[in-house]
Amino acid sequence: MGGGMLDRLRIGKLFRRTSAADAAARAVDDAEALRRFASISNEWYWEQDETLRFTSVRNWNPRAAGIEPEALIGHTLAELAAPDEALERQLEACAARQPYESFRCHLQIGDRALWLSLNGVPSYDSEGRFCGYIGTGREVSKQTAIERALRERDTRFREILDLMPVAVFVKDADSRLVFLNSECEAQWGTRSEDVRGTDASSHFPPSAVETYLASDRRAFEERRAIDYEETVWHAGHRTECIVHTYKKPIFDNAGKPRYLIGVRVDMTDKKVIERKLRASEQLLRNLAFHQAKLLEDERRRIARDVHDELGQNLLAVRIDASRLAARTAVSNERLHKAAADALHTIDETIRSVRQIINNLRPPVLDLGLSAALQWLAREFERHGTSRCTVEIGTPRADELLSEASATVMFRLAQEALTNIRKHACATEVCIRLDERDGNAWLAIEDNGIGMNVRARRTAQGGFGLVGMRERVKALGGSLQVESEPGAGMVLRAAIPIVALSETRETKVPAGG
Ligand SMILES: Nc1ncnc2c1ncn2[C@@H]1O[C@H](COP(=O)(O)OP(=O)(O)O)[C@@H](O)[C@H]1O
Ligand SMILES: [Mg+2]
Repeated sequence: MGGGMLDRLRIGKLFRRTSAADAAARAVDDAEALRRFASISNEWYWEQDETLRFTSVRNWNPRAAGIEPEALIGHTLAELAAPDEALERQLEACAARQPYESFRCHLQIGDRALWLSLNGVPSYDSEGRFCGYIGTGREVSKQTAIERALRERDTRFREILDLMPVAVFVKDADSRLVFLNSECEAQWGTRSEDVRGTDASSHFPPSAVETYLASDRRAFEERRAIDYEETVWHAGHRTECIVHTYKKPIFDNAGKPRYLIGVRVDMTDKKVIERKLRASEQLLRNLAFHQAKLLEDERRRIARDVHDELGQNLLAVRIDASRLAARTAVSNERLHKAAADALHTIDETIRSVRQIINNLRPPVLDLGLSAALQWLAREFERHGTSRCTVEIGTPRADELLSEASATVMFRLAQEALTNIRKHACATEVCIRLDERDGNAWLAIEDNGIGMNVRARRTAQGGFGLVGMRERVKALGGSLQVESEPGAGMVLRAAIPIVALSETRETKVPAGG
């Protein structure tokens, strides 16, 4: 049993007296008992006179500090101890003739110092007159140094936590708050001392408290750190904010819950920026889609005009020229030669016009996507040495897509084939159109030199694939590029079948 406990029993007994006379009668006995107790414990025993000057110090054991007990004799604690709050309280207790316990004082004698813990009770003579204090003492220098170091560390730690721009709180195993840092106080709109030792139910609405307690319980039950996003009221900013909350339960050596450390990171700014970024990405995509559509419409109009005006006129001129050539065949050799030359030039011009129309917008697109892809493949083969096959894996190929979407798929295939001709050195190309999981799928695969897709993402370069990806995305679809250096390339585009005609109109801003 420690000396402190015995002490307390002893002092308690000393004070359970019924009258001053009673106490006086027992005072001598008690002083003797205390002396004896001090001699068998590691405490020392002391007596003070009515002016609180030490008159006797026995069993003095803090000799290691180099202070002799004689140094105390004739002095009061007020003279020997460093003045602080504890000393003030002790002096008040003495003035009121009250006992005191575990009074800590810092004794400074010459250049020596030590920390003492003192217990004292007033003593009375046989007539019941106050004649000073008696008590025991213990050196607590080491303990005090450790406690001070811990307190210091605690203070530093709190200062660091207060500097942090995230809210930190600590709760005990019963979800009672132990600590809040400054940011947490600002977020919650409360001060630590107002909620410490409570579950903060006086501060938050009951439904919010229930949610917080439930997640505390979950962390303790699952015995692991949990984290989640929540929308909470930020008292400092007087707005709702989106926070990411982390809760880590701490267990003692026996595995029993001790503490819960909570960290709350305000994500509102990040979320707002993310939302704005997404909105502006969508806007750009819509804009790109809208521009591509305008371009497509314009090309179609020019192709139609060229076909209707220029094409028709050329045909008329050709008919006249061929008539002239026929008439002059036998009659006028020179005129016939001129007419035949004109006919030839007209035919060349008609071919050029057809080419221009095809380049603007192949009329074959009006026959459906599968026909247009076939035409594209033949054109590709005609202008190079690679083979290009087309596989149509669905009987409804031409009904899957709205006209605008079919045009996007066609332009994608066209861009892919142009890239293959420009970059790939491929000998085999395959275009495949399928229908799967509610999407129309178009894949263009080549066996050319391929490329490093990851490196490509960060590198500067053409906008062919980027533009195609945006156009596909604007239709709610996606475009993947799969390639390895030396292993060819596959472009895969998926466009949702239902979304095509219905959502496009609402997603894309109206023209103007
Ligand atoms: N089929 C392919 N095989 C190998 N590399 C390709 C292929 N398609 C595209 N690339 C590479 O990807 C790059 C980007 O293509 P693209 O965006 O169409 O831009 P551009 O054709 O204007 O260079 C090309 O410069 C090329 O290096
Ligand atoms: Mg390109």
